[in-house]
Amino acid sequence: MRQMLASLFQKEGFSVEEAASADDALERVADQDFDVVLSDIKMPGRSGIEMVGELRRLRPNTPVILMTAFGSIDSAVSSMRAGAFDYITKPFEPDAVLLTVDRALERRALEEENQRLRQAVDRTSALGDLIGESTAMREIFAMIKKIAHNRSSVLLTGESGTGKEVVARTIHYHGARADRPFVPINCTAIPEGLLESELFGHVRGAFTGAVTSKRGLFEKAAGGTLFLDEIGDMGLGLQSKLLRVLQDREIRPVGGTQSVAVDVRIIAATNRDLEQEMREGRFREDLFYRLNVIPIHIPPLRERPEDIPALADAFVRKHSEGMRHWLNPAAMKRVTAYPWKGNARELENVIERALALADSEEIGPEDLPLGDLRDDAQAPGGDDLLRSAARRRLPLRQVEDYYIDEILRLTGGNKVHAARILGIDRKTLYRRAERRARQAHPEEEVAGA
Ligand SMILES: Nc1ncnc2c1ncn2[C@@H]1O[C@H](COP(=O)(O)OP(=O)(O)OP(=O)(O)O)[C@@H](O)[C@H]1O
Ligand SMILES: [Mg+2]
Repeated sequence: MRQMLASLFQKEGFSVEEAASADDALERVADQDFDVVLSDIKMPGRSGIEMVGELRRLRPNTPVILMTAFGSIDSAVSSMRAGAFDYITKPFEPDAVLLTVDRALERRALEEENQRLRQAVDRTSALGDLIGESTAMREIFAMIKKIAHNRSSVLLTGESGTGKEVVARTIHYHGARADRPFVPINCTAIPEGLLESELFGHVRGAFTGAVTSKRGLFEKAAGGTLFLDEIGDMGLGLQSKLLRVLQDREIRPVGGTQSVAVDVRIIAATNRDLEQEMREGRFREDLFYRLNVIPIHIPPLRERPEDIPALADAFVRKHSEGMRHWLNPAAMKRVTAYPWKGNARELENVIERALALADSEEIGPEDLPLGDLRDDAQAPGGDDLLRSAARRRLPLRQVEDYYIDEILRLTGGNKVHAARILGIDRKTLYRRAERRARQAHPEEEVAGA
């Protein structure tokens, strides 16, 4: 009977191992994870029913199907009581066994899926949208909770893509100002000349083209938070004006004669080394100390790989339509070991793209265009990616977005360098980036877009 069943399943494409007794079977089960166990009840030594209990303790996810003699109601009942998935009565048709095994496999897959979901939930430790499990991130969580309610300036530092903007939002939305506006502005995206009026507003006739007066972002952020992104790129002239605003807590619109009091929390961020910028005379020391009241440094993702699984899960949930997709363990292992030069942003882009291009809901390492770790200069999977994009009939715009992301990844997020490679000007690159950012945060106005 055992040999007959073994060859039946082998013919169906299963890989089969045989055991001649319960003890033999338990030994194998202890060191190998089988998808399903099919066993007789009457065997030399321990019975199949005794074996089920032991087996369930060893491998709670492995379904066991027992074979009982026809008409033996007792052993059918005790099989189920012992925790068997099902029983089949002898004699049986091959199709009946195959069908029962299929159902057992389906159920196992379902249980594993549930377990995976539960784990994903348990594993997620987060503060609002901010995810992290590493000591470094937990310290940042604690810091945010401590400072969210006061108005001291915050200076966020960290490489491109480490999550400075998420941290800024989290501070805002956990504080007393949560119901007031959070206004982000990217200091590099706007030419120096316009930045001043963007920040402080202008009066009518202040300069050619100023046909009406306009409120600045400081006023728009009244009572809330102004997020000055890429502060390290702000010119010296504007730096001194900003310093004055921080000292006096009032602004003067361009061309105006009257100052207006402002109540705004400033969170500034940069991926530059401001100490270095100060030494080289590109950043005012007094402004630095005004901003650096509460410094928060976010380490690069490669220094906190413990955060990668939870981030990867979150990005999968975010970008999977109907939350159908999942990373299989091999894919998870691969992303956790990857050095992520572009930090969380790169991880998110890689996952978004993998989901858009994947043929199945299970994402494996082969779906992740991570390329060869030793040769980063080679655009990973380029040809495959294009072919796959064509197969999915993706619109050009989306393919362009992916390409832009890829170049940004290769340049470590350096937008000037990336724009040069892409043959578009820097402003076009910012516009594209901001259009995508707006899709992510439609409720906010993105300055300078
Ligand atoms: N800890 C985190 N939890 C959740 N999402 C994160 C986290 N870190 C980064 N992200 C996500 O990664 C992406 C990049 O993050 P963010 O824009 O905050 O980086 P950044 O440090 O401001 O980068 P840059 O210096 O290039 O502006 C965003 O989509 C953000 O939501
Ligand atoms: Mg940013």
